[in-house]
Amino acid sequence: MKYHEKVQHSAAYIQEKLGKIQAGSIALVTGTGLGGLTDAIENPASLSYAEIPEFPVSTVASHAGRLITGTIDGVPVIAMHGRFHLYEGFSAHEATHAIRTMGELGVRTLILTNAAGALNPSFATGSPMLIEDHINLTGTTPLRGENNDAWGERFPDMCTVYNPRLRQLAVDKALALGLRLERGVYIQIMGPNMETPAETRMYRALGADAIGMSTCMEAIAARHMGMRLLAFSCLTNKNLPDCMQEASLEQVIAQAEKSSTAMTALIKAILKEI
Ligand code: HPA
Repeated sequence: MKYHEKVQHSAAYIQEKLGKIQAGSIALVTGTGLGGLTDAIENPASLSYAEIPEFPVSTVASHAGRLITGTIDGVPVIAMHGRFHLYEGFSAHEATHAIRTMGELGVRTLILTNAAGALNPSFATGSPMLIEDHINLTGTTPLRGENNDAWGERFPDMCTVYNPRLRQLAVDKALALGLRLERGVYIQIMGPNMETPAETRMYRALGADAIGMSTCMEAIAARHMGMRLLAFSCLTNKNLPDCMQEASLEQVIAQAEKSSTAMTALIKAILKEI
């Protein structure tokens, strides 16, 4: 079976089990420690990734692996609780299978969240960062290989990956909520190892404000399909090359969970006017 047929197979199963995805549904991807956002879903119906044909199964214990549909304050949503990372051994195609499945289901708007390390020394741990642009430093892309013209063009433009109107809406809502919202460039590395001080210095010099191990793959696949995109990092730790401190997974999860109330409030406010 060709890759796009596998994606269509997953989409057909989801539609059969959860019904037709409502027009105008917003897709959400919850990062490490940010799954709490899915608790806000009213009238939820869900599927485990393991039962969806052709779906990869996430191996990260901190990522649940469920697809959930429902509404948040009346807005129809389809949420991925748990995502797929290159460091788990997935190819860029596999890591974006679920995003493309949502595209096949008719989703036109996607909100991505992740946990990330702050590289910008002026950023505060615990704050959300609006991703304004990204650097894909993984050495791969989900667009490698044969292009499926039905999804998008061979050489898609990446001038504006993150939708300017949605970004402005995020800034306005953060202001209205009295939330500190950083703005910056996210860099994706392959992981799973964290960065050395020398690498951290280099990533900062390259122009990145936050670093993580997800999101660029998903953003590229979603833009290829013409989706509107909005993305946030929860800054769980701060990486300063001259005084590097260990950032354990426990610390990353604990900080993301602590910050998830603010992130949930911000996303709920955005959804009302999206
Ligand atoms: N580096 C890479 N990925 C991360 C980090 C980090 O410091 N924090 C959370 N995810």
